Amino acid sequence: MKITILKERQTNEKRVAATPDAVKRFIAAGAKVTLEKNAGLAAGWLDESYKEVGAAIAATPATALKAAEILLCVNAPENIEELPEGILLIGTLNPYANKEKLEKIASKNISAFALELLPRISRAQSMDILSSQANLAGYRAVIEAVSVGAKVVPMMMTAAGTVAPSKVLVLGAGVAGLQAIATAKRLGGVVSAFDVRPVVREQVQSLGAKFIEVPVDKNEAAETTGGYAKEMSEEYKRLQSELIATTAKTQDIIISTALIPGRPAPRLISTEMVESMKQGSIIVDMAAASGGNCELTKLDEVIEHKGVIIVGYSNLPSRCAGDSSSLYARNLFNFISTLMIKDGAITVQWEDELIKGTLLTHEGKIVHPQFLSTSSAA
Ligand SMILES: NC(=O)c1ccc[n+]([C@@H]2O[C@H](COP(=O)([O-])OP(=O)(O)OC[C@H]3O[C@@H](n4cnc5c(N)ncnc54)[C@H](O)[C@@H]3O)[C@@H](O)[C@H]2O)c1
Repeated sequence: MKITILKERQTNEKRVAATPDAVKRFIAAGAKVTLEKNAGLAAGWLDESYKEVGAAIAATPATALKAAEILLCVNAPENIEELPEGILLIGTLNPYANKEKLEKIASKNISAFALELLPRISRAQSMDILSSQANLAGYRAVIEAVSVGAKVVPMMMTAAGTVAPSKVLVLGAGVAGLQAIATAKRLGGVVSAFDVRPVVREQVQSLGAKFIEVPVDKNEAAETTGGYAKEMSEEYKRLQSELIATTAKTQDIIISTALIPGRPAPRLISTEMVESMKQGSIIVDMAAASGGNCELTKLDEVIEHKGVIIVGYSNLPSRCAGDSSSLYARNLFNFISTLMIKDGAITVQWEDELIKGTLLTHEGKIVHPQFLSTSSAA
């Protein structure tokens, strides 16, 4: 059982798919692990720390891939041509944006598992890369806001006068939003949060934040049976927009995380609202990669509009790459050790719903129902 980890090559990616701790666990489970030289460096691990737990270090990707059976990645590898035939590829493969790559992966007879497609059932919680990464991203969003701004967050009473605490508004109280609320509270902010799902009210309040809400028609369900937000009525959106407009004016920081899975990010912050905000206030738009919750957000840029700073980083987990990698690597280990290893050998449980839910390509074809191409469906 040979596992390989390459250095991530995507711009702005500092994470690594295995930490020394994860490597130690894989070796204890009977694997041989090889990492490309400096694979963990940007996340804070020297090659030495991997060697200490028994990994081999290879000078080039080609040497690292020699005899590989499982390849772990954070992002889908760039050069699929260079991958060995028939391996298992496991990571965040972003199949929506990588359709062409998917065909190439299938043509190399690779069995590719996109962990972001993992069904969100309780058995899969310890393998859930979306939750682990969104958690850290929510934390980091607050840190980014604080670091680009000129205002402190806590109330400070000094001999020279009192500094008022920052007011922080969090839009969307899912995984990232709840962590953003907790972080802003820990820093001493006065936090309020808004979400279309009234069921999160208690969670928001238990973190010490105020839950602001649109007076809703009780018959209008805000979530699907799977617990995700759903598209709301036009009347709801109008009331919501008024509520956000009134609240935004008084805030120092807005962290926006609103998302409806599989849809473009809902537009919650208009140019007009930005222009009504206080000079020096900050918006961190976590939904930048899916189009942005704010009309003015620019992907992977920090811009200033009439005195308001708007942060559009798409990869916040990479900005705290050490801990993000630790949780990510642990998610991968839990997935592999539970569903792919038995008595020190690779034994994939092909019929398990977690395997079926994540498997994109197998035996030369695209097999995931959401991504079937005409050729492979035939
Ligand atoms: N920038 C980054 O580095 C980074 C990292 C991780 C996640 N994200 C993004 O952050 C966002 C949140 O991720 P998550 O894991 O917390 O998702 P999640 O599904 O757990 O939470 C999204 C929340 O938004 C709420 N929502 C939906 N529509 C809304 C609306 N119109 N108004 C207010 N709330 C609304 C939902 O009810 C839900 O609670 C996603 O867009 C995700 O892609 C960004």
